Amino acid sequence: MRPGNRSRTSDWVAALRALYSEAPPDLAIFDDAVALRLLPPGLGALVRGAARAPFGTRLAHRLIGSATRGLSYGVPLRTAAIDDAVTRAAESGVRQLVVLGAGLDARAWRMPSLREVTVFELDHPDTQGFKREGTRELPPLAQEVRFCSIDFERQTIPEVLGQHAFDPSARSVWVWEGVTMYLTAEAIDATLDAVAELSKAGSTLAMTYLPREYASPWLRTVSEVGAMWIGEALRFQEDPHEIAARLKQRSFEVEQDDSATEWAERWPPREARRVRPFERLTVARRAGG
Ligand SMILES: C[S@@+](CC[C@H](N)C(=O)[O-])C[C@H]1O[C@@H](n2cnc3c(N)ncnc32)[C@H](O)[C@@H]1O
Repeated sequence: MRPGNRSRTSDWVAALRALYSEAPPDLAIFDDAVALRLLPPGLGALVRGAARAPFGTRLAHRLIGSATRGLSYGVPLRTAAIDDAVTRAAESGVRQLVVLGAGLDARAWRMPSLREVTVFELDHPDTQGFKREGTRELPPLAQEVRFCSIDFERQTIPEVLGQHAFDPSARSVWVWEGVTMYLTAEAIDATLDAVAELSKAGSTLAMTYLPREYASPWLRTVSEVGAMWIGEALRFQEDPHEIAARLKQRSFEVEQDDSATEWAERWPPREARRVRPFERLTVARRAGG
């Protein structure tokens, strides 16, 4: 991310989540009224316009889906797939959720399953400042939200979480959604080391990543040039067995590794068949204990 800039990709993914909150019942994925409130005014107006027009969200779904060759469908679907993993963890008694690179993630404000969970939101101060403003008047559904500013390139996660009373002796669930593709392999390893250091046995990590051949060579070039242009270069791609090996080195066993094709099973078949498997989600559990 360029210094002094708020993340633009986090705005766009939040806009997609807002769109799918307003969608007709067969496409609606979650109720994320908060996403719409947090959007910058221009994007918010576009989503509200689509929601008010007859068939507007369905049309936007198809138009954005075709323009991005199916990429946009994966965003709300991955969020819903991660929600399932977070809810399973909360139902098993986990009381700490750490969101790495939180952006405009609204889980703390929209997921009733977090009512007994403290949410630690880690993000760059430039992105987080905007979110703190937007959520000032919004009561969370989570028990508590702790905003933890961090520049992953300059500060360590244990140092920052230590300042916010994170308890490493209790189990936790970690969400790393839509971030790894922008990092170097060294930054990925440093983050996984930190997660492993702070995770008691039985903790869960849900992370998304791009596999090496996530799209056709032509679409990969377009995506990589576009990402570089907005200052968020795509740097990291790896295949499932490589991600599993990185996790295993840190005592995390993969329990789930799937893509948008599987996440789309919650949509009717006529919509699900348009979805392309760009990004993947790994859910892994810390062994031992
Ligand atoms: C694509 S957004 C994903 C946001 C969110 N997880 C979601 O899915 O909506 C990437 C996030 O990583 C954060 N980020 C990028 N570089 C960072 C850095 N050096 N330190 C802290 N956060 C960073 C951005 O601020 C942004 O919120």
